Amino acid sequence: CGIVGVTGNQNATDILLDGLQQLEYRGYDSAGIYVNDQHGDGFLVKEKGRIADLRALVGPEVKGSTGIGHTRWATHGVPSVTNAHPHVSADGRFFLVHNGVIGNFSGLREKYLADVELKSDTDTEIIVQLVGKFAAEGLDTFAAFRKVLSLVDESSSYAFLLMDKEDPSKLFVAKNKSPLLIGVGDGFNVVCSDALAMLNQTHDFIELTDGEVVIVEPQSIKILDQDDNEIKREPFHVDTDPEAVQKGAYAHYMLKEIDEQPGVMRKLVQEYFNEDGTVKIDQALLDDLSQADRLYIVAAGTSYHAGLVGKELFEKLANIPTEVHVASEFAYNPPLLSEKPFFIFLTQSGETADSRQVLTQVNKWGYPSLTITNVPNSTLSREATHTLLLHAGPEIAVASTKAYTAQIALEAILVKAYGEAKNIERAKEFDVAKELTKVANGMQELVDEKGKIEQIAKDLLATTRNAFYIGRGVDYALAQEAALKLKEVSYIQTEGFASGELKHGTIALIEDGTPVVAIITDPKMAAHTRSNAQEVIARGANVLFIASRDLAVAGDQIILPDIDPLLSPLVSVVPTQLLAYYASMQRGYDVDKPRNLAKSVTVE
Ligand code: G6P
Repeated sequence: CGIVGVTGNQNATDILLDGLQQLEYRGYDSAGIYVNDQHGDGFLVKEKGRIADLRALVGPEVKGSTGIGHTRWATHGVPSVTNAHPHVSADGRFFLVHNGVIGNFSGLREKYLADVELKSDTDTEIIVQLVGKFAAEGLDTFAAFRKVLSLVDESSSYAFLLMDKEDPSKLFVAKNKSPLLIGVGDGFNVVCSDALAMLNQTHDFIELTDGEVVIVEPQSIKILDQDDNEIKREPFHVDTDPEAVQKGAYAHYMLKEIDEQPGVMRKLVQEYFNEDGTVKIDQALLDDLSQADRLYIVAAGTSYHAGLVGKELFEKLANIPTEVHVASEFAYNPPLLSEKPFFIFLTQSGETADSRQVLTQVNKWGYPSLTITNVPNSTLSREATHTLLLHAGPEIAVASTKAYTAQIALEAILVKAYGEAKNIERAKEFDVAKELTKVANGMQELVDEKGKIEQIAKDLLATTRNAFYIGRGVDYALAQEAALKLKEVSYIQTEGFASGELKHGTIALIEDGTPVVAIITDPKMAAHTRSNAQEVIARGANVLFIASRDLAVAGDQIILPDIDPLLSPLVSVVPTQLLAYYASMQRGYDVDKPRNLAKSVTVE
């Protein structure tokens, strides 16, 4: 879901539609805009489906200088035109777009809106109806908005953008938990939930803090804290080249991002190593990390899977006990903590609400933390004690690829720095810069084998109902990520399994022709995984072997370049990403925007 707004620019309609198009990658199922021409005319256009469908509905009369727009990822209420934003007050005066979830919306409806006939099933409509009601009772727009904000309970998350038809050059803005930025233009200003939406308009953005309300006009941006004191805040500059968010010659972002991985590895070596081979990581971070008796990695989705590999790295190379937790589980059911915990948040977007909920709790406890993210100035980066950037360039495809490999590489770099600081032999001996350079070359070999993998996807995955990835150790961690990737873009029901555990129940699902992909990169476990593969072959499975060169045997179809087994997921993931991509192609799906998914989930 995404929000855009603009005031003071005659091209408001185009700016909104182009902005929404840039946000498509975040995932959505309906979209809408409201534009006002300042002469009494306002235009509301909403549509289910893609931005292209919305664009087709926007006629030449839809012109103006102020407007708001939204892509909706359904939470309350099905995807439909009625449930799409902007929502309108009963008197047709107020227009509102919203990201987030209002926890107490049904209580508010019962208490204040019993006599109002609602048009949609959304929590958002309650908010705009309340603004309308309080304004009708005599409050000015700002006061009505403030009053509604005061009624929304603590558990709620929101980024709101409100327009008043009777004062149409103003945008009223508020946020709690959900991200929102003000973009500073020349003679006009914009609002967006993600800077990428507005890079064609400006590169200077002001971040907002929870609880603030902002009035944005063409020539001014007035930020007010909870007590209505005005706050001055300088914009920060976003360097991202708008070109970096284009597909270029690629048909899909996912393929482009898979191909970018060797470059990302090299970039990380460049960013984090000095010429003399020492690691460039802030001493204050290493000091905090060195104090810890246990690490807690917290993340969601693909980032969680990168955390599983991180645990292996921290424990095997640097002897520090490390736990990995799914953010949404940790948030309300934390484990028993050690005496001196240190928290690492892995998050591509830096905005995932589940992870942020944990960070808020960690900050209340007063423990030190690090956010590893791809997005500078993102919420989790601002709120953690320390930040390390992934430098992977914008990741647009919903299914994460290069952020996963960047996270693992950066974890390895951090382990190296930590191990050196603690004088741990194994870490000191591990030449991460050299290994990552080998990884970059190895990834390149693999992305150059696309034709072969495309053929395998055709043979193995074009029509199957289900599939399995199996492995042990880091290969098991990788199997979980490989399975997620395939599920996300091909909708094949896939499980990533510890290969030795399969026989304890799940093997019941193996039938004639069931695809099973066995990952083999660790010499200690290779023979065991192979015998588990034999068990499924004996029951009819169609097994694809992905094995490191020195462990490969005749008949293995995909051979991986030799990399230290601890870093092997960096290369073994590449063919699994490509398998997912080509399986999606075979089955005719929209690989960059899979159904039901959002790129960054800013609701719990
Ligand atoms: C969403 C995305 C996943 C992603 C997860 C965590 O569910 O669809 O691809 O892995 O969020 O995102 P983060 O930005 O925190 O890494």
